[in-house]
Amino acid sequence: MEAVVALCKRRGLIFPASEIYGGIANTYDYGHYGVLLKKNVVDAWWKAMIQERDDIVALDSAIIQHPRTWEASGHLKGFTDPLVDCKTCKLRFRADHLGELQCGRKPSKHPGETDECDLTESREFNLMFETTIGPVQEAGSTVYLRPETAQGIFLDFKTTLGFARRKPPFGIAQVGKSFRNEITPGNFIFRTLEFEQMEMEFFVPPDEAGRWYDYWRQARLDWYVGLGIDRERLRLRDHEPDELSHYSSETADVEYLYPIGWSELEGVANRGDFDLTQHAEFSGDKLEYFDPNTKERYVPHVIEPAAGVGRTVLALLCDAYDEDELGGERRTVLRLHPRIAPVKVAVLPLLRKDGHPERAREIFQELRRHVSAEYDEGGHIGRRYRRQDEIGTPLAVTIDHQTLEDGTVTLRDRDTLAQDRVPADELVQRVTQLTR
Ligand code: GAP
Repeated sequence: MEAVVALCKRRGLIFPASEIYGGIANTYDYGHYGVLLKKNVVDAWWKAMIQERDDIVALDSAIIQHPRTWEASGHLKGFTDPLVDCKTCKLRFRADHLGELQCGRKPSKHPGETDECDLTESREFNLMFETTIGPVQEAGSTVYLRPETAQGIFLDFKTTLGFARRKPPFGIAQVGKSFRNEITPGNFIFRTLEFEQMEMEFFVPPDEAGRWYDYWRQARLDWYVGLGIDRERLRLRDHEPDELSHYSSETADVEYLYPIGWSELEGVANRGDFDLTQHAEFSGDKLEYFDPNTKERYVPHVIEPAAGVGRTVLALLCDAYDEDELGGERRTVLRLHPRIAPVKVAVLPLLRKDGHPERAREIFQELRRHVSAEYDEGGHIGRRYRRQDEIGTPLAVTIDHQTLEDGTVTLRDRDTLAQDRVPADELVQRVTQLTR
C-alpha cells in the first residue's frame, strides 16, 4: 500500500486534501491522471449499465434531500458506528476496530492497552453530516448530506416510471458523491469522508427478486474482471445474517484482495420492498407499479449493486502496480488495462531538434482526435518512457531521424517492451485497436 500511495503522490494521481494546512482526516484530492483514471472507471460503469442494455435509465438526484428521507430510510435512527473517546489523548476511535488502531500516545500499542489510556464507554454516533438550510442557523431546518445515492433513486421512482417507458424489471442508475462521518484507521482512499458511488436500483416483480439477485451478483463480479483485475484476487462473499443492513434480506460483497486483506469493493443487496414501502408510508404517495396486462398492482422489489469509484480505483492501482528491472535499473510500472489507463499513447520526439518535435506534434494532433494522448519532449527518452510506465500508458510512439526518411515510427509496448517499426499513417488504426 505504501508503494501505491507514494506512486500516486509522485505522479499526482491522488494526494491528501488541504495539504498546505496539514491535511484533513480521510480526505483526498485527485490530480490530472487520477481524474482521468476515475473518469474511465465511471465511463465503463455507465457503458455496462446504459449503453449495453435497454432496461436501465440514468438519474442525477440532489445530494441534499428532504430530511424526512432519512427518517423513512432508517438512516437517522440506525446509520451509526460505535465510538469511544480517549480522555487522555483526546482521540476518538471505532469501538469495534480497536485492535487495528494506534494509541494516540504510543502508536505501537492499541487504544486502551497502556496504563495512560482512559477510554469512555462505547456510544453510537450517526454517520450523516448535518447542515442547515437558510442563512440563520438557529431558524433554518436541519438537513443531511446523503450517505448513499440510492435514496434519491427511490424518491424519484414514480417520476422516472412516468417518463422512462419501462416496466419492471428495469433499473435506475446514478453516479455521485456520498458523505459519511467515518472514523477510520486510514487506509488511503479505501474509506473516506466523501466518496463517489455508482449505484443502480433494479426494480423487479417480487417473485423474480431471487433470480435477479443471483444475476447481478455474478454480473458485477464479471465487470471487475473486464476492467483487467486479476480474477484470483476477486471473490464473492455472502453476508452472514448478523452482518445484513437493516434494509437487506440478502447481500453479497464483491471483495478484492487489497494489501490490507480481502475487503469490500461493492455490495449487491436484495432490498426487497423496504425502501419504496417506507417512502410511501412517510410521504403518503403510492409507490407502486400497475401492470396493465395483468391488472395487478404491486410494490416492486429492489436488487441493488452499489459500487464505489474510489474503491475501484484503489483495486485497479493495487492490481496494476508492479516493479521490474530494466537495463539494470528498477522500473515501477502500472500494468493497467489499456481501456482504463489515463493516457493511451505517449508521443515522444527522440530529439528536441532536427525536425523531430515538428513531426511528433503532427502525429500527436492526429492521435489525440481518437484517443487520450500525451506529448512529451522534455528530458532523456529513457526517463520519458519511465514516466509513462508509472502512469500506466500502454503505448509510446517515438519519432526519430528514420521517421523523416521513411515515414515510420517506433511503437513501444509498456508490458512486453517490444519496439515495432510502424508506418505513421497506420498509427491511429493500430493504437485504437490496441487500447480498446
Ligand atoms: N446503497 C448501499 C450502500 O451504500 P455500502 O456498502 O454502504 O452500501 C456501497 O456502500 C459502496 O460504496 C461500497 O462497497 C464502497 O465501494 C463504497 N463506499 C461506502 N462507504 C465508503 C467510504 N466511506 N469511502 C469510500 N467508499 C465507500
